[in-house]
Amino acid sequence: MPNDINAAASGQFKIGGDLTVNRLGFGAMRVTGDGIWGEPKDIAEAKRTLKRVPELGIDLIDTADSYGPYVSEDLIAEVLHPYKGLVIATKGALTRHGPNIWQVVGRPEYLRQCVLMSLRRLKIDRIDLWQLHRIDPRVPRDEQFQVIADMRKEGLIRHVGLSEVSVAEIQAAQKFFPVTTVQNQYNLVDRKSEAVLDFAEANQIGFIPWAPLASGDLARPGSALTKIAGKLGATPGQVALAWLLKRSKVMLPIPGTGSVRHLEENTAAASIQLSDEDFAALDVEARRAA
Ligand SMILES: NC(=O)c1ccc[n+]([C@@H]2O[C@H](COP(=O)([O-])OP(=O)(O)OC[C@H]3O[C@@H](n4cnc5c(N)ncnc54)[C@H](OP(=O)(O)O)[C@@H]3O)[C@@H](O)[C@H]2O)c1
Repeated sequence: MPNDINAAASGQFKIGGDLTVNRLGFGAMRVTGDGIWGEPKDIAEAKRTLKRVPELGIDLIDTADSYGPYVSEDLIAEVLHPYKGLVIATKGALTRHGPNIWQVVGRPEYLRQCVLMSLRRLKIDRIDLWQLHRIDPRVPRDEQFQVIADMRKEGLIRHVGLSEVSVAEIQAAQKFFPVTTVQNQYNLVDRKSEAVLDFAEANQIGFIPWAPLASGDLARPGSALTKIAGKLGATPGQVALAWLLKRSKVMLPIPGTGSVRHLEENTAAASIQLSDEDFAALDVEARRAA
């Protein structure tokens, strides 16, 4: 793999207007076990992957207390603390009761515990970007937003993001704190959040598309993107990421992997410039496949 791969080629975005990151980031959910539960099968490779992240110019790492749970944050701290120049974006509000089981808890005292324990695991005094993983429908929304606003005022959190929200929910949260990022599922074959992306773009809110590779489907040989990727001399996963980067200047993709090889391949997508014709053709191919 060439040494000139650098996430800086994806361009930059200022989270909250003052925290500059390279737009192509890293999702640290995959440095855990099956069902995002426990330690990864190959923990040495997971650590090598994390170590390689900043070497490739990636300075935005997305994680959550619920990944493992705790495994992802613990490994990030073990391998990358004190995070020189890195933005570690974490999340809270999901409890874990087994592989692939996620239950939302948004009671204010629990959200405060999430933040305090992420601070402890990550060994920091303030979280650069803390994201509410889900709004709990069983708890008044304003109570969840108020405790986040309080923690921001106390200096425990620098910037706040939301995850899996509608435009109306973003606007409701904006009464309590500036919403600096939104993390919704979005990729070439899943475009449910198009309206949220447009709103984010109009308001300079970073849009973090989770599952940018459709959880790996778009990166597999034989994916809907294979033909165009072949023409460009790229892999299907790379053109899926390049398409996201071209779609909007506020787009901050965080492809997830526990493998150095995949990390390098994904980061190389930062340098792929799609023509308007290829951008449109990928859209058509993906809509057909979806
Ligand atoms: N806010 C939310 O609710 C939410 C939900 C899910 C995820 N997330 C975040 O979003 C990030 C990205 O989502 P994701 O990890 O679910 O999906 P993704 O990035 O679309 O795909 C990851 C999957 O694709 C595989 N993969 C990655 N690069 C590859 C490559 N070059 N070639 C072949 N396979 C490849 C990975 O396996 P290998 O490990 O084998 O490479 C993994 O199984 C997560 O890491 C997490 O930080 C957020």
